[in-house]
Amino acid sequence: MNFKLSEEHEMIRKMVRDFAKNEVAPTAAVRDEEERFDREIFNKMAELGLTGIPWPEQYGGIGSDFLAYAIAVEELSRVCASTGVTLSAHTSLAGWPLYTFGSEEQKQKYLKPMALGEKIGAYGLTEPNSGSDAGGMKTTARREGDYYVINGSKIFITNGGVADIYVVFALTDPESKQKGTSAFIVESTFPGFKVGKKEKKLGIRSSPTTEIIFEECRVPKENLLGEEGQGFKIAMMTLDGGRNGIAAQAVGIAQGALDAAVAYAKERKQFGKPIIANQGISFKLADMATNIEAARLLTYQAAWLESNGLPYGKASAMAKLFAGDTAMSVTTEAVQVFGGYGYTTEYPVERFMRDAKITQIYEGTQEIQRLVISRML
Ligand code: CAA
Repeated sequence: MNFKLSEEHEMIRKMVRDFAKNEVAPTAAVRDEEERFDREIFNKMAELGLTGIPWPEQYGGIGSDFLAYAIAVEELSRVCASTGVTLSAHTSLAGWPLYTFGSEEQKQKYLKPMALGEKIGAYGLTEPNSGSDAGGMKTTARREGDYYVINGSKIFITNGGVADIYVVFALTDPESKQKGTSAFIVESTFPGFKVGKKEKKLGIRSSPTTEIIFEECRVPKENLLGEEGQGFKIAMMTLDGGRNGIAAQAVGIAQGALDAAVAYAKERKQFGKPIIANQGISFKLADMATNIEAARLLTYQAAWLESNGLPYGKASAMAKLFAGDTAMSVTTEAVQVFGGYGYTTEYPVERFMRDAKITQIYEGTQEIQRLVISRML
């Protein structure tokens, strides 16, 4: 057992940390305020190779692994959770199913420009009446000659409206529910594809979340991903890894909040001494740091399992469950350490607290993680 990160992983951490500090952090608060996605930041991530971390070079990636990718999401989220999830949805939710189930042609056509950062990816599973019960979807895809014609709508789509390529799930055989679900690669320019309502959100406000609508949307038959009827498994397997991206995001948010709280507690004086001199504060910080470390270990372990071709679904769900709860509790305590100032936008901890909440909800609520874990016990 070796807990020391490799030189390559340390190098990626340093590169992303510098990038996050210099290019992402300065505008994080204003982008949050303005609910503004910044494509320029994505383009800069592409220049650094961050948009294709785990994919081989022949598909435009940098040929690294899922641990490096988790570290990157963590470091970005430490300053801006919106930027963290942009990369996470792009890589785990859209890139992964293309890499794992795509034909050579599909990988060249779709994965490569995504890994190079020329195109942004997204994933469309959730519907108005099908959230935790992902198998309850209503969107259909009927075969018509050389096309599938998709009808329906998907909601809460991360990267919605800014993505060029969507991995979408629809029923090719509505009677068979999960077993009648298929996966498709949909380009934003396909006729009948529309971007609907953009959500106004509590947190991750500079990551766009939209509805996507399919009205007789014609998708060439070559854009079926995997086989007909394989879609639900593709969706579930994609989420197995995606959840660890969210765990990494949660670890980053929590670490960002702790960093800010420690610095403030050392500097803020009350009753003639820095507030960190009070155990009421310092013990809080100790608990926060300990939980973050545990969350990080679970997250890195799941990423390591995936990188080494070992089963990782349970580990990933555990990491997301623990890290999400840690992000929520740590950010709430960070606001407490800051007192009244923490409640204002003068400091970043209120943003971290708002951003943390989603990690307990998306890519499967904490309750769904418990379902996934308990089914494997
Ligand atoms: N890997 C492979 N196959 C899997 C699987 C997995 N992880 N999970 C399920 N399956 C297979 C099962 O083996 C089964 O196949 P067989 O019948 O051949 O055995 C089939 O899929 C159906 O499985 P279940 O009976 O377990 O399905 P279910 O309807 O009970 O649902 C669930 C299971 C875990 C609750 C699932 O619905 C689920 O994960 N729900 C949560 C959805 C979710 O996470 N949504 C997040 C949306 S994306 C998002 O949030 C992105 C973002 O914004 C960033």
